[in-house]
Amino acid sequence: MEQDKLREELKYILENEPENYSKILKLSSELSKFDQDSVRFSIDAGIIDRLGKELVARHETAVSELVKNAYDADAKKVKLTFIDSSEIGGIIVINDDGVGMTKEQLVNGFMRLASSDKIHYPFSPIYNRKRAGKKGIGRFAAQRLGKQLTITTQTEDSEQALEITINWDDFKNDQDLMFIDNKIEYKIRMPKKRSGTRLVIKNLRDKWTEAQ
Ligand SMILES: Nc1ncnc2c1ncn2[C@@H]1O[C@H](COP(=O)(O)OP(=O)(O)OP(=O)(O)O)[C@@H](O)[C@H]1O
Ligand SMILES: [Mg+2]
Repeated sequence: MEQDKLREELKYILENEPENYSKILKLSSELSKFDQDSVRFSIDAGIIDRLGKELVARHETAVSELVKNAYDADAKKVKLTFIDSSEIGGIIVINDDGVGMTKEQLVNGFMRLASSDKIHYPFSPIYNRKRAGKKGIGRFAAQRLGKQLTITTQTEDSEQALEITINWDDFKNDQDLMFIDNKIEYKIRMPKKRSGTRLVIKNLRDKWTEAQ
């Protein structure tokens, strides 16, 4: 029976390849579909495209969502850099000196859809600002803007900077969102700042003019 085969395979992987988390996740999820008593929602990866493109119609609004996140993180300065952006395919860099994210905040916050730490902490930690975000989807403005996002972040007392690269084209329909992995790297700290977050958005989907 397929169910028994899956159990066997899972057992084998757990014993022999305990760090093959992608495989473990896939097999457990497949197995859970044999549950006769409960059913669960699963999420098609196509949701990401819809969140990015449909919720944030204008690319100017998309940038303001990301600046708002820097404000919410107590940034005093946000630097926007546009590189070769008068043509499609350019780069935008959004660099803030806010509090940054720990690995825990990155994984359970930024990488968790619809989560918002602003529900639990409506005021910012240093300047007690009333935080603007609450829906937990603003980060998908980055998807609206360009095809690749690299997020680098460090907190005041982190020894290293954390960096995640997301290729939005990986999030195609007919795939399960949970099974798409994104690389995390541990880098030397970004110079000249105590804490902060940098978003590098590459392969821009739109052209930008001076007026925008
Ligand atoms: N520049 C940043 N600095 C520090 N943390 C950030 C930054 N950008 C995003 N985050 C973290 O990622 C989470 C997700 O951001 P996102 O914009 O998607 O949601 P939100 O701001 O909570 O709500 P909204 O959708 O209303 O903007 C934030 O709650 C915050 O914890
Ligand atoms: Mg936000």
